[in-house]
Amino acid sequence: MRYYPVFLDLAGQRCVVLGEGKFAIEKAASLREAGADVEVITSSEYRTGDLAGARLVVDASEDLEVNRRSWAEAEAAGILINVVDRPAQCRFIAPAIVRRDPLLVAISTSGESPFLASALRARIERWLGREWGPLTVLIGNVRRQLRERGMSIPEQTRVYRRILNSETKDLLRRGRTDDAAHLAVAIGQAGASGPGRVALVGAGPGDPDLLTFKARELLADADYVLHDALITPETLALCGPDARLEDVGKRAGLPNPRQEAITSRLVELAQAGHAVVRLKGGDPFVFGRGGEELAGLVEAGVEVVVVPGVTAALAAPAAAGIPVTMRGVASSVAITTAQGGGSLDRLRGLALAADTLVVLMSRANLAEVAAVLARTVGGSRPAAVIANASLPNQQSVSGPLDRIARIADQAAIGTPATLVVGNVVAASALATAVLPNSSVDGGFG
Ligand SMILES: C[S@@+](CC[C@H](N)C(=O)[O-])C[C@H]1O[C@@H](n2cnc3c(N)ncnc32)[C@H](O)[C@@H]1O
Repeated sequence: MRYYPVFLDLAGQRCVVLGEGKFAIEKAASLREAGADVEVITSSEYRTGDLAGARLVVDASEDLEVNRRSWAEAEAAGILINVVDRPAQCRFIAPAIVRRDPLLVAISTSGESPFLASALRARIERWLGREWGPLTVLIGNVRRQLRERGMSIPEQTRVYRRILNSETKDLLRRGRTDDAAHLAVAIGQAGASGPGRVALVGAGPGDPDLLTFKARELLADADYVLHDALITPETLALCGPDARLEDVGKRAGLPNPRQEAITSRLVELAQAGHAVVRLKGGDPFVFGRGGEELAGLVEAGVEVVVVPGVTAALAAPAAAGIPVTMRGVASSVAITTAQGGGSLDRLRGLALAADTLVVLMSRANLAEVAAVLARTVGGSRPAAVIANASLPNQQSVSGPLDRIARIADQAAIGTPATLVVGNVVAASALATAVLPNSSVDGGFG
């Protein structure tokens, strides 16, 4: 069965509710709320002919004989009828509703699962805060003004997107209704020519469920999304249907877009009035060159927001069940990279200074990195390598530092991968091999 969804205007229309129980009372109340002229007829009072002139009937009598007669009468007269709990005797069904007047969200499973409809409603209730009602009113007002000015639909769309991307919603959430209204009107007056904005957004380690709520919202409303190579298709699928995606990822063996070229593209798009998201793996400020992009944007006078992400430096150990700090085992963590000049000296210093050492970008020269660390803190220090953390193809191995590179090679551990070194590895769930896709080589010292 496929239903045709509509919202009915029942203001001043005669509607009949049959029955006297809880359902009848509820249905009558919601019809009245919609402005209908509601007559409630109890089961014992109902006579064929009572439905004449009604637009819509809800039979909540729970009486089979009344159901049979009301259905027959409504069908004969072409009146829309819903016989409660009798799908075969329903010309319409009532959806689950999330109300943010004038915004109304209706959810239907075509009668398959009221449970699912209400579970979904509860989720949408949480997602759509109370501010969405007044926001709808504000955008409606701006829309009337723009239409009076004869603004084209594509230009209007950019204004609405800009309002959605602005502080308007936050102001409404905090009860600052007047400030929100002024801001929305100002954006409307600036029209499509107003300035754009760049959001430097962390995409987390890969699993789209690890994106922040703010990141999801920004992706949904972005005009342009400039993303790293490692961003998963599932994460990119969270972009709005009109968003233009540009892969500016730096990949080994391929021509790399220069960092300055990326920053100037961001500046160019923002200055042309677009809402731009610069989407980076993990956290933008952890070995993500987000700092340089921020500086370049600020220097060019572009408005920037930074949305932190779940960094792989913490997510990779976590996904393998390794706590980077642990009471009695480790109370300091250092995060570094195996790449760049002087990295081996730096590794030596950090391995001595911190209880847990997390090394990003370490897969290519793992043997060399592990050998340097083994000489510094001893070959028996526990280590783990986690690849594709949080993704379906996550892999992890652990073993002592002097054997970890060989273990990783034997297990064909791929990239991106993160190395973790410290006694937390031996104390972790990975060491007892309770997690899927993980293997352990015993013999920790
Ligand atoms: C250029 S750095 C970027 C780090 C990123 N900004 C962050 O906060 O996660 C890339 C390195 O992050 C690590 N990495 C990223 N995603 C990972 C994942 N899903 N699993 C394991 N390590 C990952 C790897 O060490 C990879 O070489």
